[in-house]
Amino acid sequence: MMYSEKVLDHFSNPRNVGEVENANAVGQVGNAKCGDIMKISMRIEDNIIKDVKFKTFGCGAAVATSSMATELVKGKSVDDALKLTNKAVMEALDGLPPVKVHCSVLAEEAIGAAIQNYYDNAGIDKKVKKGCDGCCSS
Ligand code: FES
Ligand code: FES
Repeated sequence: MMYSEKVLDHFSNPRNVGEVENANAVGQVGNAKCGDIMKISMRIEDNIIKDVKFKTFGCGAAVATSSMATELVKGKSVDDALKLTNKAVMEALDGLPPVKVHCSVLAEEAIGAAIQNYYDNAGIDKKVKKGCDGCCSS
């Protein structure tokens, strides 16, 4: 199995690991295929993601995609962060081996779950729909 240099870099030196203090958006999701878990916490102010961190109990591809995903949403608006797909994260990492595509969905789902938590806390009546779209189901 071949990993890109960017995947190896983000796996061995992951960005934004940990938990955000004073987080007002927290989401945790599990990967149904492997049981791995990811937690994302964010500080959202004026609709902008000021800070974001992740913790992953998962494989290397899950760590690398979470790391890249946090970099991609940091400083973005909530709406822009919701547009981030696992495919875009994979592209930013120069791809993943096909059997690892499913791991990349964890970060997208966790970001969605955190933003849903933010909406719920703020009394905003919106439903986030993120995650596996059957792109690699087999
Ligand atoms: Fe579980 Fe990759 S094998 S997230
Ligand atoms: Fe779930 Fe591809 S991400 S089938």
